[in-house]
Amino acid sequence: MPKAPQLVVALDLPSLEENLALARIISLCPKRENIWLKVGLRAFIRDGAKGVEMIKKTSGARIFLDLKLYDIPNTMADAANECANLGIDMMTIHASSGLDGMRAVMQALAKSAPDMKVMAVSALTSFDDRSFYAVYGKKVDSGVCDLSALASEAGVSGMVCSVLESSAIKAAHSHLLTLTPGIRPAQDQKPDDQKRTATIQEAINAGADFLVIGRPIYTAQDPKAAIESALMQIDCLQGGLQ
Ligand code: C5P
Repeated sequence: MPKAPQLVVALDLPSLEENLALARIISLCPKRENIWLKVGLRAFIRDGAKGVEMIKKTSGARIFLDLKLYDIPNTMADAANECANLGIDMMTIHASSGLDGMRAVMQALAKSAPDMKVMAVSALTSFDDRSFYAVYGKKVDSGVCDLSALASEAGVSGMVCSVLESSAIKAAHSHLLTLTPGIRPAQDQKPDDQKRTATIQEAINAGADFLVIGRPIYTAQDPKAAIESALMQIDCLQGGLQ
């Protein structure tokens, strides 16, 4: 029986107070154990470790620190250890940082935080084939396939990808988790800067393990209702698969 995916709410709001208000709403959700909170570049650069601590305390949720590390192996390993010191549960590195960088991170965390989930970013969901080709010299599908093979060899927990690549990653590497941003819960929702978007139904069909939703929740008129609706959709659609 496939496991229900977890909802990851991106806290990309313009102030710590607004992120904490959303964290408070989440702490009151009946199904809060199925929700992770994502602290990304904006919040971390502004609010730092203290912000992470306050969000964790306010929400009681597991924290995904999405800093997408990309550097030389020694710096990546040291940075990963610093992430572990923040008491977070999941983090991101770039698969394109290469086998040595990813391995260095996994070796460092094997000692400092063996339970940390490390997700390797394949192709950002804001890339389409043309913009990805301009940087990597291949199409998204083949780039994601190559980067997943490298990340699997390095021993990461899973891949950050769009829903469109999730099934292919799982077919090639059944042990890898997939975390998919670019989720737009309703068909007619605007993609914003995302190019490879999908609905919750499509994400579940593709076997995604973590569904990241930011703007469709935090810019909604009623974010609490948007979270509850996403959780309900996950429940109902996942039920349909069983
Ligand atoms: O607002 P939206 O739902 O588009 O937010 C998606 C979140 O996921 C953002 O915080 C963005 O930084 C992050 N993300 C992404 N694509 C990736 C990796 C992370 O959109 N490949």
